[in-house]
Amino acid sequence: MHSPRLIAQQTTCLVTGAAGFVGSHLTDRLLAQGQRVIGLDNLRLGKRSHLCQAFQSPDFIFLEADVNDYPANLARLRELVSAPANGMVWHLAANSDIRAGSEDPEVDLRHTFLSTFNVLKLMRELGLRRLAFSSSSAIYGPHEDLLSEDSGPLHPASNYGAMKLASEGVISAALETFLERAWIFRFPNVVGSRATHGVIYDFLAKLAVNPAELEALGDGRQQKPYLHVDELVDAMLFIQEQAAEPLNCYNIGPEDSATTVQYIAEAVARAAAPQAVIRYTGGVKGWPGDVPRFSYSIGKLRRLGWSPKLTSDQAVDLAIRELAPAGASQSNVVE
Ligand SMILES: NC(=O)c1ccc[n+]([C@@H]2O[C@H](COP(=O)([O-])OP(=O)(O)OC[C@H]3O[C@@H](n4cnc5c(N)ncnc54)[C@H](O)[C@@H]3O)[C@@H](O)[C@H]2O)c1
Repeated sequence: MHSPRLIAQQTTCLVTGAAGFVGSHLTDRLLAQGQRVIGLDNLRLGKRSHLCQAFQSPDFIFLEADVNDYPANLARLRELVSAPANGMVWHLAANSDIRAGSEDPEVDLRHTFLSTFNVLKLMRELGLRRLAFSSSSAIYGPHEDLLSEDSGPLHPASNYGAMKLASEGVISAALETFLERAWIFRFPNVVGSRATHGVIYDFLAKLAVNPAELEALGDGRQQKPYLHVDELVDAMLFIQEQAAEPLNCYNIGPEDSATTVQYIAEAVARAAAPQAVIRYTGGVKGWPGDVPRFSYSIGKLRRLGWSPKLTSDQAVDLAIRELAPAGASQSNVVE
C-alpha cells in the first residue's frame, strides 16, 4: 500500500461516484495523501455512510448531485475548484448494475455514458484538464485469449460494456481539444468492504433471506479475475503518478489468476450459512451480458512497476471476511 506522503502544494480533485464502493475508498486514500476532495454522488447506488471517514476531514466536501445535472451546480463547483491548474477529476460515477442496464438500456446510456460525456463538458467549463476514468473488462466482450490493452476487435456483450467503451472513445477524442492527459483503468471484478453489488454481495443477501439455500446463477464454472479494492486503489494511484503519456490505458487485475463462481458460493456459504444447499441454475452464463470466462494480462502494469500481492482467490477470501456478518458461521451451525 502507498503510505501517506507530504505534498508541497495541496491539490484539489473532484471524485464522481464518491459515495460508491470504489469511490469512497479512493476518497479516503486521496484525503490521507493530503489532497482536498470534492465528492459528488447522486446516491442512486452509493451510500452517505460510506463517507463516514471522509466527513471527519476538513478537506472533504460532499455534493449530492447527478453529474448529468451539472449546470445546476456549476457556480458552486466553480467556487470549490479554486485551483484548476493542479486539479483533476476521478470519474467513477456509473451504473454498476450490469443486469439493470440489460433490462433497460436507458440506465447505462444516462449513468454510464452521458455521465462521462457531461463530466468532460463540466471539466471544459472549469478548466480542468486531467481525467482518471474507471473503465471495465466489460469493454472487451467474449474473447478466448488473455486480454491485453491491445486485444480486439472490441465487441462488448452488455449495454454497460458498450457505454464504457463509448466513454473511452469520448475521452480519447477530448485529448484532441481541451484535455491534457487521461488515465483509463480497465477494472476486473472488484471485491471488498462497502461493496454495493457483485457476486459476494448477492450471495450474502440471498443467504440473509434464506440461510437454507443458496441460488447461484449459471453452472458455477464461470471463472473471472477478482481484485481487492485496496489493491485496486493502490494501482490507480500508482498509474496516475507514473504514467505520463497523453492517454494512459491500463488493465488492472490479479496476476494470472481467476476464481470460479463455485469457489465463491462455497466460501460464502461456509462463512455465512454452513448448512446451506447450493443450487446452480445451470447454463454457462449467469445472465444476459455476462462474460462467463476471461483472463487478464497485466503485463503493461507490471512493466510500469506495480503488481498485486493477492491472488484472485485470496482477494475473494479477504472480501468475504470483510463482508460476512460477524459470527454468522457459528450461529448457523446445526448442533
Ligand atoms: N466494482 C467493480 O467490480 C467494477 C468493475 C469494473 C468497473 N467498475 C467501475 O468502477 C466505478 C465504481 O464502481 P463501484 O463498484 O464503486 O460502483 P458503485 O455503484 O458502488 O459506485 C458508483 C457510484 O456512482 C454514483 N452514480 C451513478 N450515476 C451517477 C450520476 N449520474 N451522477 C452522480 N453519481 C452517480 C452511484 O450512486 C454510486 O455511488 C464505476 O464506474 C464502475 O462502472 C467497477
